[in-house]
Amino acid sequence: MRIEGKHYHTIWVKEGSRDTIQVIDQRVLPHQFVVHEIRSASEAATAISDMIVRGAPLIGVTAAYGLYLACLADSSDKALSEAASLLKASRPTAVNLAWAVDLVMDELLSLPINERAEAALKAAEKIKADDIEICRQIGKHGLEIIRELYEKEQRTINILTHCNAGWLATVDWGTATSPIYQAMQEGIPVHVWVDETRPRNQGANLTAFELLQEEIPHKLIVDNTGGHLMQHGMVDMVIVGTDRTTAHGDVANKIGTYLKALAAHDNQIPFYVALPSSTIDWDLKDGVKEIPIEQRSGEEVTSIWGWSKGEMTQVKLSPKGTPAANYGFDVTPARLITGLITDRGVCEASKEGLLRLYPERLSTDG
Ligand code: MRU
Repeated sequence: MRIEGKHYHTIWVKEGSRDTIQVIDQRVLPHQFVVHEIRSASEAATAISDMIVRGAPLIGVTAAYGLYLACLADSSDKALSEAASLLKASRPTAVNLAWAVDLVMDELLSLPINERAEAALKAAEKIKADDIEICRQIGKHGLEIIRELYEKEQRTINILTHCNAGWLATVDWGTATSPIYQAMQEGIPVHVWVDETRPRNQGANLTAFELLQEEIPHKLIVDNTGGHLMQHGMVDMVIVGTDRTTAHGDVANKIGTYLKALAAHDNQIPFYVALPSSTIDWDLKDGVKEIPIEQRSGEEVTSIWGWSKGEMTQVKLSPKGTPAANYGFDVTPARLITGLITDRGVCEASKEGLLRLYPERLSTDG
C-alpha cells in the first residue's frame, strides 16, 4: 500500500545487502517514517517483542526471516533450534509466529547444513509472497459482503474496526482492511470508524495513518464509542482481525474486541473476522480456556506515548504507584461472530464452517 504515494511492503531484504532485513518501525508511526534494520535472529525476536513490527501475519513473516538470519550465523541443528525457540517466545498469542517458525524449521532440518541459508531465504520470501496473495483474496471475499450491503442500502457503508488489522499488520493489503480497500477501488462509498485501541493506540496511530494515506474516509473514536454508534444506526458492519482462531471458530484479537462483538450482537449488526488460514490453531477448541493471552507491562496503561516538540514523548496518566493490569488480547466466542472471511471464502464461525473451507483438516480434527 502507499505512504506519501509510494508503494511499500512492511518487510524486505535490504537492497545490495543480503544479510540485513528492513522493516518499517511501527513504534514511531504516524509521526516519523523510520526504516529499522534487523541483522540476527535475536534482533528479529526483539523487533517482535518490542512491537517494532506487530500484527499476527507480519510477526510470522519476520520470524521466518529471523531464521534466515540465524542460518547466516550458524546453520547447525542446535543453533537453529535455539533461534526457533527464541523467536517463538517473542510474543505468545498470535499463532502465526509458531506456524511460520515450524514451517521453515521442518524444511531446514531436512537439508544439508550448507544448503540451509539459501532455503531459509526462499521459504521466508514464499511466506511473504503468499501473505500478500492471501490478504488480496480475503479482500475479494469480504468485498462481496460490502457490495451486497451497498446494493441494499444505496448509501455509504459504515464499517467499524478495532486495532490495526491493516497492511501494516501484514505485508500488504491487511486482513480486515483489504475488503475496505477493494470496495473503495470498486467505487463503493465506505466510511470507517477507527477505534483508538488503548493502550498502544494501534487504531489511532496505524489504522488512521493507513486510511489517510489511501484516502479512505474515516473517523477516529475512543474505544468506548462503538456501542453508542451501533445503537444509533451509525455502524453497518464490524470487521476485525484475529491473532488466533480455534478450530471451533472462537477468535482472539486485540483487547476490547469482545466488547465490540457483544455490542454488535445486541444491535443485530454483522460482526465479521478476517483471517488467513495461518491464524487457525486446529489443535484448540475453546478459545477462552485455551488461547494464551499476552500480558504486557503496566506502564503501557499508566502512561501514553505521543508526539511533542518534534520527538516521541511518554506522558504519565495515573498517580505514581498506581498498579495496572495490561491484557493484550481477549477472546470473542464463535456465537457472536457472523462470519469468518478467509482467503478461501466466507464461512460460519464453527467447526463445520471451517471444515467446509478446509476439508483437508477433516482427518485431523478432534
Ligand atoms: O498487539 P498487536 O498490535 O500485534 O495486535 C494486532 C491485532 O490485534 C490484529 O488485529 C491481529 O494481529 C490481526 S492482524 C491482521
